[in-house]
Amino acid sequence: MSTTHIAAQTLKSLSSEDWSVLSALERALEAYEVVPFEYISKTTNLHLDEVKFRLKRLDQLKLIHLTTNGATLVSAGLDALALRGFVKRNFISGIGPIIGVGKESDVYEAIDDAGRAYAVKFYRIGRISFRAIKIKRSYVEPTAHHHWLKVNISAAKKEFEAIKKLSQVGVSVPEVIARNRHALLMERIRGMLLVDCKELKEPKKVLKEILKNIRLAYTKAGIVNADLSEFNILCSDSKILLIDWPQAVSKEHPNATILLDRDVLNILKFFRRRFKIDCSMEDASFYVRGWRDSVELHS
Ligand SMILES: Nc1ncnc2c1ncn2[C@@H]1O[C@H](COP(=O)(O)OP(=O)(O)O)[C@@H](O)[C@H]1O
Ligand SMILES: [Mg+2]
Repeated sequence: MSTTHIAAQTLKSLSSEDWSVLSALERALEAYEVVPFEYISKTTNLHLDEVKFRLKRLDQLKLIHLTTNGATLVSAGLDALALRGFVKRNFISGIGPIIGVGKESDVYEAIDDAGRAYAVKFYRIGRISFRAIKIKRSYVEPTAHHHWLKVNISAAKKEFEAIKKLSQVGVSVPEVIARNRHALLMERIRGMLLVDCKELKEPKKVLKEILKNIRLAYTKAGIVNADLSEFNILCSDSKILLIDWPQAVSKEHPNATILLDRDVLNILKFFRRRFKIDCSMEDASFYVRGWRDSVELHS
């Protein structure tokens, strides 16, 4: 079972005192590497013995890391807090199977009371280096842990803001419903990554649609994805959706046009390789900047 499923399962078994201990550890993210027992006891108003008793359980559930001096929140604990946030606001009632594993995240299906499906993206930046550290030293430095939890929270914030802005100007992105900590609750897209589409009915139309959306993002929202490729485009029926925006940069960024051209080049190369469609880089680049009104594709 994944740590996220463990977090989801433990939601029901945790008492309000357990939650206040978890929240106390979270609030101390900035101040402590290992949060001292006395601090937790003071901020939760729970007796020191009760704090230690609850921490032991939370450690067994793998939501925190317990040491002799105190405790540290770990990523499954942050998952539990984020899921509880979504559940409390009645957005979802349960977590389903994993539906995507990216470079920096795990994406799970979630359902609400009415059985509607959503996607929850949990940020996992730093996961690789955790493993590397673990192999070398057999434990994870609490400092590293806290640092990555904060990095993941700000990545989720950035992506949430970018997607909201993009959807306002009509860019084809999944609808974002809410963000809690390092987790994004989104519309669940039933489709395939572009990289997995061996065939397309109308590849020219799809490429045009992608370029049109890159243009819209740049000219109307002032946003460049900066990591766009066949791995960050979902195809659903005849529709395409641009996903994965945490590293997006604004039009004002000094490298904005370089990054914009790199996004465009990735896409053109893919369509040339897989679907034998040609398009000049100059033409596409001027089109997405809004300097030309159309783009010519040849096959
Ligand atoms: N809204 C969504 N609906 C369905 N699947 C999704 C959704 N968002 C992401 N995924 C799946 O999760 C994977 C990882 O998401 P992505 O946003 O690309 O994160 P990463 O930064 O980790 O690459 C995607 O490749 C895709 O398969
Ligand atoms: Mg991705």
